[in-house]
Amino acid sequence: MSSDAVRDIKDKLDIVDLIGDYVRLKKVGSNFRGLCPFHNEKTPSFYVSPERQTFHCFGCGQGGDIFTFLMLAENLEFKEVLEVLAEKAGVKLISSRENKRKPSLYDLMEEANRFFRSSLESNAGRLAKTYLSRRNIPEKVLEYFEIGWAPPGWDNLWRHLLKSGVTLKEGVDCGLVLEGKKGGYDRFRGRIIFPIRDLSGRLIGFGGRLVDGDGAKYINSPEGILYSKRNNLYLLNRAKKEIRDKNRAIIVEGYMDAIRLHLSGYGESVAALGTSLTEEQARLIKRLTQNCYICFDSDTAGQEATIRSMYLLQREGLEVFVVELPSGKDPDEFISMDKGKELFFQSLKEAKPLLLYHLYVRKHNLERSRSPREAVSELLNGIAQLPVETVSPYIAHLSRELGILPFELQKRLAELRMERENLSLRTSDQGDDISGFRKGGQVIPDTGEVPDTLEASLLFLLWNDAELRKRVSISKVLSLIADEKTRTAACALLSGDTPSELEERWLSMGDTFPLKAISLGGNYMEQFENKEEQLSVIFSALERKKRIARFRELKTRLIQQKATREEIEEYSAIKAEMKDIIF
Ligand code: UTP
Ligand code: MN
Repeated sequence: MSSDAVRDIKDKLDIVDLIGDYVRLKKVGSNFRGLCPFHNEKTPSFYVSPERQTFHCFGCGQGGDIFTFLMLAENLEFKEVLEVLAEKAGVKLISSRENKRKPSLYDLMEEANRFFRSSLESNAGRLAKTYLSRRNIPEKVLEYFEIGWAPPGWDNLWRHLLKSGVTLKEGVDCGLVLEGKKGGYDRFRGRIIFPIRDLSGRLIGFGGRLVDGDGAKYINSPEGILYSKRNNLYLLNRAKKEIRDKNRAIIVEGYMDAIRLHLSGYGESVAALGTSLTEEQARLIKRLTQNCYICFDSDTAGQEATIRSMYLLQREGLEVFVVELPSGKDPDEFISMDKGKELFFQSLKEAKPLLLYHLYVRKHNLERSRSPREAVSELLNGIAQLPVETVSPYIAHLSRELGILPFELQKRLAELRMERENLSLRTSDQGDDISGFRKGGQVIPDTGEVPDTLEASLLFLLWNDAELRKRVSISKVLSLIADEKTRTAACALLSGDTPSELEERWLSMGDTFPLKAISLGGNYMEQFENKEEQLSVIFSALERKKRIARFRELKTRLIQQKATREEIEEYSAIKAEMKDIIF
């Protein structure tokens, strides 16, 4: 019976959509490719096949169907995955146990949500509706954003929930009910309600805005079984498709800002849910895009939050831009100004890259600050975290603005980079084992042959660089590769087939070796700064390896007394040339 459900679910759901929530996928031929979520890599070797509805990573060897994927990605049991996917697919699970399934906390949240929605639509919601229309939220979008109203009074929601058999513990567990001396009472009272859903659409919390009276302007669900601020972003579930399509996300501070942007054609916007961003939130965004626009309030607190957040996003590998707003405005207020939409469009177009924004903010307080030294040092510390190639184009500019000679500036940045490098070398654990990736303490067994790392790296470089493929001599490359399979793959690459044609062919033939080698090579090459360095390291290492092999061969012939005079001379020459190597 459960296998029927599995089949039904598989018919209804598409693996590309499902995995697309976790990994940025790019189409290659008839497959999709992205960075593997199960091990750390910079060269994508994770493939999804819509035809077979399966995934496979050539780097770490993980693979399977939508069920396997969710079990791994969310760390769930098969049974739990079955429930999640059945719900998503709208498939009924008809086991005897399922029939008696107790309503979950999520069901309870949905019930509360319906209560808030109908309160807003009823007479009791008049005041709230007036407020919303004064804030320029059109009546017809209230449903789309699921905006609701928690009536004033102590226990309107709690009494409603009690009637449907909810226990006090359940009410408290989902953050809706507080326990007082005389029983339960509502957390949200007299507030406009903004439901907060997680990436996959589950209702995990609420934000509530006071309309009048005393109290905090906003309160949110407490951290608990369902809600965790650091792992979620407001409106992400609504925004994820547009973030993927437009390949960028806009991050704002407040609920109203996110809603205003969605209403103004920026459906790729999400709100940070209060204070500054977390690493987990950055990773959520990274699954969907690599480009991020920060658009926080333009007050001092907003600027400081922006600086903290932009480096955090940058460290997670996102390209960061900062949208500047006129002083004292938040995005909602800005767009609501006369010609606000056009002005916002312009600001977005002129968004500053991280480095220039940092310089711009610090320059302001450099001029009037009592300790410009400190400001400069903070700025350089930040900039030293950025990749060298990102900073290079700005050296002249920075040097002018900071009044430090370019040479001196480069030197200071290099020193800071070195310090960071040392620090991370000391704190990171032993280097990754490149032939078997670790996950959760387990080594994933390597299936089949393990490519030679150096030869695999050469294959990776050829794969990635059309220029190199044209420039290099085939015979030279082949002379450097000993492994037959790697030679065949290199040969195919050098005979004019494009990488995507080859990728397609290998995948359709089920030939996993070349992609495995390319993934291994790509990971190995990450340790080197730039392409020149990669090329010179690999070519010289392979040359050396070849010379050593030749030396061993000659030595054997010498011992067997089969060497000719030329071979003896060659032997001595190599020996002299490689005297630094111990044989
Ligand atoms: P702001 O104070 O900037 O409010 O808080 P806002 O977004 O402009 O709100 P409106 O336009 O007056 O309605 C930004 C965000 O910080 C969190 C909320 O998530 C809010 O959207 N916040 C703010 C709180 O959690 N509690 C508060 O008391 C205030
Ligand atoms: Mn506002």
